[in-house]
Amino acid sequence: MPYTVGYFVGSLSSTSINRVLAKALIGVAPEDLTFTEIPLRDLPLYTPDFDADFPPEARAFKTAIAETDAVMFVTPEYNRSIPGGLKNAIDWASRPSGENSFDHIPAAVIGASVGSIGTAVAQQSLRGVLSYCNARQMTEAYIHFIPGDYAEDGSVNNPDTEKFLRDFMSEFRDHIERVLTVLPRPDA
Ligand code: FNR
Repeated sequence: MPYTVGYFVGSLSSTSINRVLAKALIGVAPEDLTFTEIPLRDLPLYTPDFDADFPPEARAFKTAIAETDAVMFVTPEYNRSIPGGLKNAIDWASRPSGENSFDHIPAAVIGASVGSIGTAVAQQSLRGVLSYCNARQMTEAYIHFIPGDYAEDGSVNNPDTEKFLRDFMSEFRDHIERVLTVLPRPDA
C-alpha cells in the first residue's frame, strides 16, 4: 500500500548535510513511499497569542502534516539539542490545545553530524518532545557524516552506508504500516 511521508529538515543552512542525508534517504526508500518536504523557514516564532487565529504560514504547515500519513525528521545537533527553528515548528504543530498535529502519527527520527556521535544527544531531546506530542516513533539511527559517501544527486557511494540507510527506510515503511493498521490517520 502506498504511503505519503512529510519530512522536516531541521537545518536552515544553504549547505546543510542533513538536506543531503534527506535526499539520500529518499533515494533508497521503498517505492511505495512518496515524500514531500514540509518547510519550517517561514514560520514566525510561536506564542499562544496566535492560538485564537493562526497566521496563514502556520495553517499551511498544519494542513501539510494533516495531509501526510507519516513524518520524518532529519536534523542536525545544535549545542547538544535540536535547532531552534525545528523546535519552533514542533510547537506550532502541537497547538492550539486539542489540535495536536502529531497525535499518533508514525514518525522516524534521524540526523547527521560532522561529529562522531552523529546527533545522538539532539535525537534524545527530540524523542522526548515527540513523545510528549504522542507521535509513534520507530528506532534510532545516528549518522556520522562522511562527505565522500554522498553524491550531489543523492546517491550513496559507500555500499555499507547505502545498506544502512536502505534498511532504515525499509523499517520505516513497515513501521508506518503497523501503526496505521491500528491507528488510521483522521481524514485531512
Ligand atoms: C553545531 N555542530 C554540532 N555538532 C555536534 O555534533 N553536536 C553539537 O552539539 C553541535 N553544535 C552545533 C551548534 C551550532 C550552532 C552549529 C552551527 C553547529 C556542528 C554541526 O554538526 C555541523 O555544523 C553540521 O553541518 C550541521 O548540520 P547541517 O546544518 O549542515 O545540516
